[in-house]
Amino acid sequence: MNIESIKTLQKKLSNLIGVSGYEDDVSKFILNLIKEEKLADKAWIDQLGNVLAVVNGKQNEDRILLDAHIDEIGFMISHIEKEGFLRFASIGDWDVRILLGQPVIIRSETGKLYNGIIGSKPPHLTTASERKKLVEIKDMYIDIGMFSKEEVEREGIKMGTTGTLSAPFLDFPNNMVRGKAFDDRTGCNVLIQIMRIIKEKPVNDTILFNFAVQEEIGGRGAITGAFTLKPTIAIAIENTTAADVPGIKDHVIPAFIGKGPAITIADVSIICSPKVNARLKKNAELAKIPFQMKKPLYGGTDAGKIHISREGVPSSVVSVPCRYIHSPTSLLKLDDIL
Ligand code: CO
Repeated sequence: MNIESIKTLQKKLSNLIGVSGYEDDVSKFILNLIKEEKLADKAWIDQLGNVLAVVNGKQNEDRILLDAHIDEIGFMISHIEKEGFLRFASIGDWDVRILLGQPVIIRSETGKLYNGIIGSKPPHLTTASERKKLVEIKDMYIDIGMFSKEEVEREGIKMGTTGTLSAPFLDFPNNMVRGKAFDDRTGCNVLIQIMRIIKEKPVNDTILFNFAVQEEIGGRGAITGAFTLKPTIAIAIENTTAADVPGIKDHVIPAFIGKGPAITIADVSIICSPKVNARLKKNAELAKIPFQMKKPLYGGTDAGKIHISREGVPSSVVSVPCRYIHSPTSLLKLDDIL
């Protein structure tokens, strides 16, 4: 696989805005790409918003589901102040410590994007003891450079409008890239690369794809997608925490950058199927693909929902390690996607 094409797609996917429940821009992009490149025998958007696709196998042995979520964590406007400032609630799990002063992108009702900044009481007006305390989301606001509630609403920004933190996609040395929403547009990238490969080299098993909505708020798209697609095996492709940074001891680092995709043994949502993991490891060894085992029990994934769908589905998770996950400045090494 070509690292430039992986990077190009990573940038496009990462820059799309698709907060949980409002993934239309991402689902449309992915469905168009699948249709344009003729990557599947069948592809459609289901009632909940998932992009589902089927690539029929040569011999129809297993029905292998590959799931990656298209949503990202973000904010929902909860109140508009009469001076035009936006109060907001968190969609998904933000590290509140990183929010202040960050650039925000708001997606209006018509799909138009607006820039914003997260603010709170200015430093000159806070006391020394106030500055030691963590500012809560309820004391923050988003400033979008508008001066009245009427002006904001006229632009299609209302209670319920969503947005997220945003920072430009950048190249770093050593094939590293930085960007927003790597969790889990990286998984979406992997799924599309797999579709491109099996288009050239068809496989025996039928491969099912769920580009799933609403993972960050509880794997909701994974539930309906797995129900529809009826897999016999499933693998969630994720972006996972690489805490290989100063001050963290080896025994608590879930995964490392640059050591290849991480196979999950167990996380808080699933004990992964040992049979599926044995097959993954065997195939990785045969294909000489470096991989690592992710330490238990960090995080939860769509696999948590898929493995208990219908009569049960042996499932696992394979993740691309990523530093600063759930931030607009996530960092990963493109070689870990290959
Ligand atoms: Co994720």
